[in-house]
Amino acid sequence: MLYNSFTWLLVGLLVVRKSVADSQQIPISNADAIATAQAAAVLQATDDLLSSESLVASCSSCISLLQVSKNLAYISEGLFLSTLTSVCKRAGVDPTVCEGTVKEQGPVLRQVLRTINVSGRDGHIMCAANLNACPYPVVEEWNVTFPKPKPEHARPPPPSGQELTVLHLSDWHVDPLYEAGTEAACDKPICCRSEFTNFENITQPASTWGAFTCDTPITLLESMLEYIPSVTDKFAFAILTGDVPPHEVWSTLPYNKTQAIEVSSYDLLHAHFDAPGLIDTKLYPVVGNHEAAPTNLFPHNVSVIPKGDDKQYLNLTWLYETMSESWSGWLGNDATVQLVHNSGSYVAYPTDGLVIIGLNTMFCYTLNWWNIEYGGEKDPNGIFTWMIQHLQLAEDQGKRVWIIGHIAPGDNTCLHDYSNYYYQIVERYAPHVIAGQFFGHTHRDELEIFYENATQNYSKAISTAYLAPAITPFTSMNPGFRVYKIDAKTFDVMDSLTYVADLDDAEEWGEEGPNWHLEYSAREAYMSPLANVGPKEPLSPAWWHNVTRSFEENESMFEKYFMYRTKSSPTLPECDQTCRTNIICGIRAGKSELRCDYQRDDLNETSLFREYQRDPEKFEYMKDLCSGLGH
Ligand SMILES: *[C@@H]1O[C@H](CO)[C@@H](O)[C@H](O)[C@H]1NC(C)=O
Ligand SMILES: *[C@@H]1O[C@H](CO)[C@@H](O)[C@H](O)[C@H]1NC(C)=O
Ligand SMILES: *[C@@H]1O[C@H](CO)[C@@H](O)[C@H](O)[C@H]1NC(C)=O
Ligand SMILES: *[C@@H]1O[C@H](CO)[C@@H](O)[C@H](O)[C@H]1NC(C)=O
Ligand SMILES: *[C@@H]1O[C@H](CO)[C@@H](O)[C@H](O)[C@H]1NC(C)=O
Ligand SMILES: *[C@@H]1O[C@H](CO)[C@@H](O)[C@H](O)[C@H]1NC(C)=O
Ligand SMILES: *[C@@H]1O[C@H](CO)[C@@H](O)[C@H](O)[C@H]1NC(C)=O
Ligand SMILES: *[C@@H]1O[C@H](CO)[C@@H](O)[C@H](O)[C@H]1NC(C)=O
Ligand SMILES: *[C@@H]1O[C@H](CO)[C@@H](O)[C@H](O)[C@H]1NC(C)=O
Ligand SMILES: *[C@@H]1O[C@H](CO)[C@@H](O)[C@H](O)[C@H]1NC(C)=O
Ligand SMILES: *[C@@H]1O[C@H](CO)[C@@H](O)[C@H](O)[C@H]1NC(C)=O
Repeated sequence: MLYNSFTWLLVGLLVVRKSVADSQQIPISNADAIATAQAAAVLQATDDLLSSESLVASCSSCISLLQVSKNLAYISEGLFLSTLTSVCKRAGVDPTVCEGTVKEQGPVLRQVLRTINVSGRDGHIMCAANLNACPYPVVEEWNVTFPKPKPEHARPPPPSGQELTVLHLSDWHVDPLYEAGTEAACDKPICCRSEFTNFENITQPASTWGAFTCDTPITLLESMLEYIPSVTDKFAFAILTGDVPPHEVWSTLPYNKTQAIEVSSYDLLHAHFDAPGLIDTKLYPVVGNHEAAPTNLFPHNVSVIPKGDDKQYLNLTWLYETMSESWSGWLGNDATVQLVHNSGSYVAYPTDGLVIIGLNTMFCYTLNWWNIEYGGEKDPNGIFTWMIQHLQLAEDQGKRVWIIGHIAPGDNTCLHDYSNYYYQIVERYAPHVIAGQFFGHTHRDELEIFYENATQNYSKAISTAYLAPAITPFTSMNPGFRVYKIDAKTFDVMDSLTYVADLDDAEEWGEEGPNWHLEYSAREAYMSPLANVGPKEPLSPAWWHNVTRSFEENESMFEKYFMYRTKSSPTLPECDQTCRTNIICGIRAGKSELRCDYQRDDLNETSLFREYQRDPEKFEYMKDLCSGLGH
């Protein structure tokens, strides 16, 4: 994720304030007087939003902005799109990026704005979840129902003493158009392509193996896939937690372009995973937000696809069918059939006693506009109900479950309501059934802890979610992957090993290529008097909770986590006390409503808007980040 289309609109909206002040003229072409007035109202509302002095004011300005955008959405699609495009361009964002992003995202956004109550809960969620401009509406209470009550004294089984090795890849983000020697500091969100290069004056040439401002070149993927077999004799199985296409979010269409990248990536993966002598194991993938074209837009089964023969691909049937075909040979026939009818989610059985629930978590994503349209939907497409059936079956049969998905439900891009309901399911089936949860999406190496009754104490910790580092170096991080040592019977994680290559040395890598190496073992790095388990015991949720206590009590312990979080990136961001508190709070949150990095009622915490008001200069960094020029 990191970079997304909404960020562009946001950047556009934020920066446009300056240009509005400098210019009387609003550049809208082909528009009559009423339309022009509506468009002007969008710009004015944006201005009000940015100059608001308090959360109350920023919220009412944000709602007004949605209101005028909604009015515009009724006039014509052309005017709606051209206004958004103008706002984006005036921000100094690359015109091609503005045009493409708005063209792809605009029609669905327009339909959703027309349907939702912008002054009600929907509008407030949109402003809170994406702009941090409103207090986040409290979760709509819903008691998830289960077939049976939780067994008393449900405990995980004891370790067997035998180990298996599992591979976890995430956020592949291949860029087939990456070329060595092209410009790595361009003005597009991703660089390192000849079309984005002024060959007369290359300021920062892209290396053969990748660059911090670009998505993954095929050379880097191949070197990683060739290196992986050297870390162990045998993998029991592997998982890939989503996002195969590049961050070219302004140009994902026609959908068969994105589809072709997915098909060829899975062909490459099959070549390595199906071959004796190479990785030689089964791979269990899931869909991420970038799998869809346009990016992020996963419809609900009640969504009304915009009219027009040319828009039917928005139903994503093509995606689920492609995944079914590309993943066959790994998942088993039942699962490949199931995922087509189950919005991409499936269940698989990699080894005796273990069930994998491959979950499409895009029904929690804040940037999936279809989620806003049906904000009251408690169980989109019935996926929770389906998941509970399989967890119950596992409990009845004494099996253990791994849940794998792209967006972790505790992430700040996961809607609070969905996250709350998901947490209830974990509370019901952990620790005795759910042995682990595995996600990606943030590109960072992170984790989340779940507790009984959300009581954040080691004695109540019941589940850990591992967010694996991305393969892509985008942005400003080393490429990496993850290996788990797990108990052969309980499937609990005994150790988590992260491998990286130090991309800032890329120029010095010769024929041998990237210096893939072990970055750290979690057991070695985080074992301390505070957080201590025996060599035969798993890295339990209680242990991880104690590790977060060591972060609070020992600054150098936190710094270690902070460095690994971005895969030992050579350009670590600053992290002050608030940042530290928020990171630790985020690990313990498990559900997004318990995080500390959003606006509750009147908290004085970091809000983009507050930040901007305090120090507009600081905002320049964000513009850089978004344009791919960041640190
Ligand atoms: C929209 O939400 C507001 C605030 O909750 C409510 O007063 C209003 O009646 C709603 N409008 C519609 C059309 O449902
Ligand atoms: C959910 O369960 C709690 C505790 O049993 C109860 O107090 C509450 O009313 C229930 N909420 C709903 C919406 O059913
Ligand atoms: C090359 O590009 C850099 C950065 O864009 C610019 O500062 C410099 O003036 C350019 N040089 C020439 C010779 O165009
Ligand atoms: C996508 O489909 C169009 C029309 O069917 C075709 O012309 C084009 O070559 C296809 N593109 C790819 C990448 O397959
Ligand atoms: C989705 O769209 C395709 C055309 O792109 C169509 O063939 C298919 O029937 C649609 N599926 C559903 C479930 O509406
Ligand atoms: C849509 O999903 C709901 C659950 O949210 C389910 O009850 C319903 O049967 C589904 N409808 C279709 C047409 O698949
Ligand atoms: C759960 O936590 C709440 C608030 O922290 C507390 O009031 C309640 O008694 C707890 N319930 C159980 C079953 O521990
Ligand atoms: C954590 O749980 C233990 C054991 O139940 C209890 O003794 C301790 O007081 C709790 N700590 C906090 C901070 O609540
Ligand atoms: C976690 O910390 C508590 C309190 O210090 C301690 O009793 C417990 O043994 C620790 N557990 C682990 C696994 O580190
Ligand atoms: C703090 O953590 C570091 C390792 O990061 C360790 O070397 C040091 O002994 C710890 N200090 C204390 C007081 O536990
Ligand atoms: C918010 O900040 C103001 C001024 O900095 C302070 O007076 C107020 O107590 C703070 N409110 C909260 C809830 O922290």
